Amino acid sequence: MERLQKVIAHAGVASRRKAEELITEGKVKVNGKIVRELGVKVGPNDKVEVNEVPLEKEVPVYFLFYKPRGVISAVSDDKERKVVTDFFPEIQERIYPVGRLDYDTSGLLLITNDGEFANVLMHPKHEVDKVYVAKVKGIPLRESLKKLEYGVKLEDGKTAPAKVKVLNTDKKKNSSIIEITIHEGRNRQVRRMFDAIGHPVIKLKRERYGFLTLQGLSPGDSRELTPHEVKQMRALATAEPKDKSKKRR
Ligand code: URA
Repeated sequence: MERLQKVIAHAGVASRRKAEELITEGKVKVNGKIVRELGVKVGPNDKVEVNEVPLEKEVPVYFLFYKPRGVISAVSDDKERKVVTDFFPEIQERIYPVGRLDYDTSGLLLITNDGEFANVLMHPKHEVDKVYVAKVKGIPLRESLKKLEYGVKLEDGKTAPAKVKVLNTDKKKNSSIIEITIHEGRNRQVRRMFDAIGHPVIKLKRERYGFLTLQGLSPGDSRELTPHEVKQMRALATAEPKDKSKKRR
């Protein structure tokens, strides 16, 4: 279910603000009835009309994007920095990123105009593994990494168990490359987790999202998801967790 003004905007009829005006002016009908409230939510089976004309739904599009560092996970930026949609100049649909990667984080980001798909993937109760490779300062002790595996206390609560694998250590440069798999999506979570064990992140990349990888792509590249991948991602996000006991640690 999505807010009526968002659905109208996504159909390309008007901006979100203009859509709100159309609603409050009584020009929008849902299932044959005029709706003037802005909070109303509609689903795919609701019939929405603007000025008596039924909405043409935008065809849903789904992209896997390799976000470079130095790009904002947004559709616009008031400081005029590069945003992810700058990489899709040909796309007419109102696309936006599913969740976000920090400005300085590179890696796999999904881009779509399908709000329901985005909501399913971003919902905290839906747990899709995300694999990150972090270059961190220092060489963490096994027991520090165990803390990440069990869950560390952050200001917004303890993190769920993570999987951690040391890929490389460099004593001369005093840094390590660590793969970490999490399924939560809190703000700057990986950076804050490594801060919590005293090994700040120097560089961060998201390598995998569910079964999707960056294979064959360079930073700034994108490809369309296949219909099967879209279906599989939906199924993965809504599947029951395999081992609920693990989450209670
Ligand atoms: N965790 C972070 O700290 N940053 C990201 O961009 C993604 C996950």
